[in-house]
Amino acid sequence: MIKSGIMKVTNSISELRRWRGQEGAVSWGLVPTMGFLHEGHLSLVRQARVENDRVAVSIFVNPTQFAPHEDLATYPRNLERDLALLQAEQVDLIFTPDAAAIYPSGFQTYITVEELSQRLEGASRPAHFRGVATVVAKLFNIFQPSRAYFGQKDAQQTVIIRQMVRDLNFNVEVVIGPTVREADGLALSSRNQYLNLAERAAATILYRALMKAQHRYNQGERQAAALRQLIYDTIAQEPLARLDYASVAAQDSLLELETVNQPALISLAVFIGRTRLIDNILINS
Ligand code: PAJ
Repeated sequence: MIKSGIMKVTNSISELRRWRGQEGAVSWGLVPTMGFLHEGHLSLVRQARVENDRVAVSIFVNPTQFAPHEDLATYPRNLERDLALLQAEQVDLIFTPDAAAIYPSGFQTYITVEELSQRLEGASRPAHFRGVATVVAKLFNIFQPSRAYFGQKDAQQTVIIRQMVRDLNFNVEVVIGPTVREADGLALSSRNQYLNLAERAAATILYRALMKAQHRYNQGERQAAALRQLIYDTIAQEPLARLDYASVAAQDSLLELETVNQPALISLAVFIGRTRLIDNILINS
């Protein structure tokens, strides 16, 4: 039995399995991450800590979810700091594999959640969710967690993982935690690190645009096109911002709505300078 309170760290799948196997009938919560941890990640860890006997965190910057032109090489990393933060949260087990452990040479099996992966983020990042689904499936198989924790910040990721769990009968309860924000509304993200001072100030435009749309909805607007237009106009007012997409879609199918007559996800992706940020809110749910 792993003595609770002593954090184990391994980059080895077989060692992890050995520790996991020694534990017997206890519940495990898994929080998959790419590291460079912030309060968004830690809020998931805390929820997992409350709801499970044991908590595991994976830290792996997953190469298959980055396109060749994206920021894999520069993605921020600070393992020492991450481990100290997780120790303070009384995490039991940390898994820090390298790419060769997850994708040994000859690797060729991928998971594609077909339709959901093409929408929203998928239109701009075609192979992204194939990489996410594949690594999350592998983590589920390696850990066999009772529950796995994901943030609402990456709304489409949560919908895709839920779909994969249903379709492939993973014996895992998927738990979604709320988006953690800075005081000015900016959603915490490891990529906020890339913003200079002027860009950091401009980045609040994402949340302001979402809040305007929510306000307009609360005032009675039900035409999705009007809500999208409000977001376009708001983003256009910020010179450092360039909209990638704005969407008002059904929460489960992620298909664009004409009328907001069911639970909806308002989401957007915006370039602030060279940094691409995403955010979302749920309405009518
Ligand atoms: P990463 O971006 O490190 O995020 C890890 C988890 O933290 C995800 O579930 C994400 O939604 C959540 N998260 C990030 N910012 C958050 C915030 N501001 N509030 C609440 N939760 C937040 O998402 C990934 O890594 C990867 O795609 C991964 C699932 C690990 C697969 O590689």
